[in-house]
Amino acid sequence: MKMSQLVAPTLREDPSEAEVVSHKLMLRAGFIRRLSAGVYTFLPLGFRVLSKVANIVRAEMTRAGAQEVLMPTLLPAELWQETGRWEMYGKELFRIKDRHDREFCLGPTHEEVITDLVRNTIRSYKQLPVNLYQIQTKFRDEIRPRFGLMRGREFMMKDAYSFHASEESLAKEYQNMYQTYCRIFDRMDLKYRVVEADPGLIGGGFSEEFMVLAEEGEEEILACDNCSFAISWKSFSSEGEPCPKCGTGILSKKRGIEVGHIFKLGTKYSAKMKCLFLDENNQEKPMIMGCYGIGVGRTAAAAIEQNNDKDGIVWPAPLAPFKIAVIPANVAEKEQAETAEKIYRDCLEQGLDVLLDDRDDRMGVKLKDVDLIGIPFKVIVGKSLKEGKIEVKARKTGETQLIEKDKIIDWLSQNASG
Ligand SMILES: Nc1ncnc2c1ncn2[C@@H]1O[C@H](COP(=O)(O)OP(=O)(O)OP(=O)(O)O)[C@@H](O)[C@H]1O
Ligand SMILES: [Mg+2]
Ligand SMILES: [Zn+2]
Repeated sequence: MKMSQLVAPTLREDPSEAEVVSHKLMLRAGFIRRLSAGVYTFLPLGFRVLSKVANIVRAEMTRAGAQEVLMPTLLPAELWQETGRWEMYGKELFRIKDRHDREFCLGPTHEEVITDLVRNTIRSYKQLPVNLYQIQTKFRDEIRPRFGLMRGREFMMKDAYSFHASEESLAKEYQNMYQTYCRIFDRMDLKYRVVEADPGLIGGGFSEEFMVLAEEGEEEILACDNCSFAISWKSFSSEGEPCPKCGTGILSKKRGIEVGHIFKLGTKYSAKMKCLFLDENNQEKPMIMGCYGIGVGRTAAAAIEQNNDKDGIVWPAPLAPFKIAVIPANVAEKEQAETAEKIYRDCLEQGLDVLLDDRDDRMGVKLKDVDLIGIPFKVIVGKSLKEGKIEVKARKTGETQLIEKDKIIDWLSQNASG
C-alpha cells in the first residue's frame, strides 16, 4: 500500500471524545471512526489490525481442534424464552420486532443458538465431544459504552462452545482452551494474567478471565511477578504475599483488561433446552458444556494500552497493520524515490507487509505519522544511500542499523516477516 492513497486520516490533536490512550491513538492514527455511541467503523489500518487478531485466534482454535461456524445475529425470542434469558438479560439485549410483530434480538452471545443446533444434530456419545466457534459481531446495549473498542455496543467476538458426555471430557477441553488462550496471547506478545472469575449472566460453574496487564485497565488484580497466576483484588489476599501457584513469585496489585473468558457451564443450558444424548447404556442425558470467549476488538485496544509511548502506538509485530514502512527522505530526489519504490516492490514480491510513504512531505512529518501508526520497522532511504546503505529503525527500541542496499530484502525477510 502507498501512503499517498491510504485512507488514514491522522489527527495532530487528541480527540476530545476519547478518555483512554488506546481510544485516543486509534482515532488519532486513523484506525477507527465513531458512528454512534459504542459503534465504530474500521478504516483500512484498523481493519488490518482486527483481522490480524482474528487470524491468530482462528489459527490457534483450529490447531486446538475446534471447528469454525457462523451463526446468525438476528435471533428469535422463542429460543431465549426457553432458557429464561429473554427476561433475565434485561436492557443489555437489543430487541426488535419484525413486520409480523414477532420478537427478535441481536445476539449478545450464542449459547441458545448453538445449543439448539447441537440438540438437533448430535444424538450419541459417539459424536461427542465437539467444540464449535465463530468470529462474529455481537450486540450489547451497554449502560456505559466507552473507551472506544474496549466497551462497544457492537463489537467483534470469538465465541466457542464445547459439548461433552462427561465432566472429565469437559475438564480436558477446558484445559485445552486454557492452553490455547495462552498460545494466542503469547503469539500476540502480550503480557497477561489469568484470574478466577465471577461467572455473571452467562455462567453456571467455574470460570477464568484472561487479563492483559495495563496501567489504565478496568479491573484491579493481585498478580504474580513470576508466573501467570492472579486473583481478583476483591478476594482475600494482600500485596507482598508469595504466589500460591509457583511459590517463588510475589503478589502485587496491578490493573488489567479482560480480553478472554473461559467457562465450565455444565448443564445449565442443555438441561433447560433438552440438548440430550444417548450414553453407552442408551440412557438419555443432558450434554455438559463449556464456553470460551475472546473480545477481538478489545484485544487490539488492550495491545495499545500495553504498548505505546509519547509518539504513538508501538504495535507488537504480530498485530501491526504493516510491519515495514519504506520512507524516501525526499521524494524529489530521484535516486531516493526510485530506490524506495524498488525496495517496496521487492518486499511485496516477498509477501512482506509493507507500506511505502511516497508522500511529498517533510521527513519529520512522515516519521511522525509512521510512528503514530506504530509500524515496527522504518526503512529510511536517505543520505546514506550515497554509500549504498539503507537505514532501518526499530519502533520499539529506537535502535538504528545501516544495511547494505543489496541485503535489505534479505534482512527484512528475516526480521519483519510472519
Ligand atoms: N462491550 C464490549 N465491547 C467489546 N468487547 C467486549 C464487550 N463485552 C465483552 N467483550 C469481550 O468479549 C469477551 C467475552 O464476553 P463476556 O460475556 O465474557 O464478557 P463480559 O464478562 O460481559 O465482559 P465485561 O465484564 O467487560 O462486560 C470478553 O472477555 C471481552 O473481551
Ligand atoms: Mg459485560
Ligand atoms: Zn506465581
